[in-house]
Amino acid sequence: MSIKILGTGSALPVRRVMNEEIVRMVDTSDEWIRERTGIGGRHVSVGETAASLAADACSRALEDAGKTAEEVELLLVATCSPDEVAPCTACRVQDRIGAGNAVAFDLNAACAGFLFALHTAWAYVEAGIYRNALIAGSEVLSKVVDWEDRGTCILFGDGAGAAYVEKCVEGGVLGFVQHADGSRGSVLSCGSRRLDNPWFGQRDFQKYLQMDGREVFAFAVRQVPLNVEAALEKAGLGVADVDLFVLHQANRRIIEGIAKRLGADMDRFPVNLDRVGNTSSAAIPLLLDELNRQGRLRRGMKLVLSGFGAGLTCGACVLEW
Ligand code: UT7
Repeated sequence: MSIKILGTGSALPVRRVMNEEIVRMVDTSDEWIRERTGIGGRHVSVGETAASLAADACSRALEDAGKTAEEVELLLVATCSPDEVAPCTACRVQDRIGAGNAVAFDLNAACAGFLFALHTAWAYVEAGIYRNALIAGSEVLSKVVDWEDRGTCILFGDGAGAAYVEKCVEGGVLGFVQHADGSRGSVLSCGSRRLDNPWFGQRDFQKYLQMDGREVFAFAVRQVPLNVEAALEKAGLGVADVDLFVLHQANRRIIEGIAKRLGADMDRFPVNLDRVGNTSSAAIPLLLDELNRQGRLRRGMKLVLSGFGAGLTCGACVLEW
């Protein structure tokens, strides 16, 4: 038994911000950003929220799968930039789309969040608790990015992606791995709310996202190929059997480095970060939805999904479309 993706959806804020606009704000250039990251533009919220983007992506995934919101049993939203501390984004989405029969909660594993949510859905279905799940990755990182820090503000974008999954007997998720290394949490981090109560008031507070880019880069290029190979081994497959590698969209050079280590050509590594930047937990489902809508996914194809991010977290999933 496993789970199969039966529908995908995505949503982006209406406002697109090209590199040229960023160049007017920090000391950088379109050439530098494109050469070092592959990013040309990103979408930035002008009022869209993590909940509204996730809800739009979820509605589209349900429509694609030919399902109604009332049929959904488990609703998971992966996000590290929720609109509120409580209630969770998934409950807001449940209300927006009318998924009243679903249990709904959030999950935060940063950029690996969607992947971990997919694996969580697999575990619930495998245990016989639920028969289906609606999973979204949704981020409004523009509110935690320091728009004066050229090391980070060039990279990130807002958006959401979603997938509807259902119990299946054949195909679907064939194998996965996931890891977390909390000892390296400071490599990529962002504060939430300042501790401020009658007994203690915190002065130093990290309000914006901070990142050691080189560390994350090296971690990704080293760790992702190992995860992919381990997940493929669990699925009884090899790199040559994979039709498409749908990787977290952080930096084109990271994807090229991973492809090289795996000994696979870049034409099996679709990329959309040139248009949307790094959307964290939304990146994998956003790209998956793009490929689905372009008709590039055919039933029976073997896909590898793999993500990495703050935590540090990473994982890989092999599935038959
Ligand atoms: O979802 C996971 C989250 N994060 C990531 O995946 C990020 C992974 N890391 C990266 O993508 C890259 O490390 C960056 C794009 C962040 C940086 O690229 P890099 O090639 O690793 O640059 P660097 O940090 O080694 O810096 C090289 C130079 C430095 O100048 P000096 O010290 O050599 O004079 C930086 O100050 O480039 C400078 N620099 C910039 N120059 C122009 C850093 N950012 C910029 C910029 N424009 N935006």
